[in-house]
Amino acid sequence: MQTIFNTADLQKQLVKIRANKLSVGLVPTMGNLHGGHIRLVEEAKKISEIVVSTIFVNPMQFGEGEDFANYPRTLGKDKAKLEAANCDILFVPTVEEIYGEGLSAGTVISVPGLSLDLCGNKRPGHFDGVATVVTKLLNISRADQAFFGLKDYQQYLIIRKLVKDLALPTQIIGVKTERETSGLAMSSRNNYLSVDEKQKAKVIFSTLKLIAEKIIAGERNYVVLEKIGFQTLQNSGAEVDYFAIRNDEFLQTPTLRNRNLVILAAAKIGPSRLIDNLLLTI
Ligand code: PAF
Repeated sequence: MQTIFNTADLQKQLVKIRANKLSVGLVPTMGNLHGGHIRLVEEAKKISEIVVSTIFVNPMQFGEGEDFANYPRTLGKDKAKLEAANCDILFVPTVEEIYGEGLSAGTVISVPGLSLDLCGNKRPGHFDGVATVVTKLLNISRADQAFFGLKDYQQYLIIRKLVKDLALPTQIIGVKTERETSGLAMSSRNNYLSVDEKQKAKVIFSTLKLIAEKIIAGERNYVVLEKIGFQTLQNSGAEVDYFAIRNDEFLQTPTLRNRNLVILAAAKIGPSRLIDNLLLTI
């Protein structure tokens, strides 16, 4: 695996790759890699001929009081994991490389509607930061495909929309959430949890499943089901941000005609704000 620290060097390499008519798959990450990220690389290897992973802790998507400064930077370990997964190129740009003129001086990409709801409501500006950095990484790499985890389902929909709206040529591929044996969705923020908190955090996925089972059994009063989900999480001691049942395409409140749904939850357990979701077809 080749590790590249600046855009010009990456683009030189990509020119050679394209001259050989090889397709390029992009796996953007913020590092501190876990099984979910490696799954993205494995999926990319199945579809794209050359896989480029990026590690960039993006300051623009962290709000005030969030964990940007303390976000674990584990480049050595991450490199070993990517090597083992047969990643071809690792791109590790600096903040100056991505935001040359400073964070507030450059163009910001903002996807309307979707960015303001759910996690966007709790983390103002977060999705503008994500949309901006992903647009830059897609433009730098001109990737044929880019891979994102479905655990961040709202992020996945926002990226799909920006690619469509800006007519970017990259195909966006969502990859199934990787879970611990307990059901807890893999996340870099699980590292902040104590053994007890990790045990407690299982409640997020079990509650999503509980509500999905009720919907599958025919219950359709989504307002009541959201309240049950919220209450179940709260009773376990979690500090709940939201528990929502939405259609899977626009994240709107489903009508009785919507067959493809997503149940989403965000809750703070111990020091970590965790998110998860469950897709279901009725
Ligand atoms: O999901 C993430 O890790 C980040 O939001 C992403 C897509 C790498 C953008 O910084």
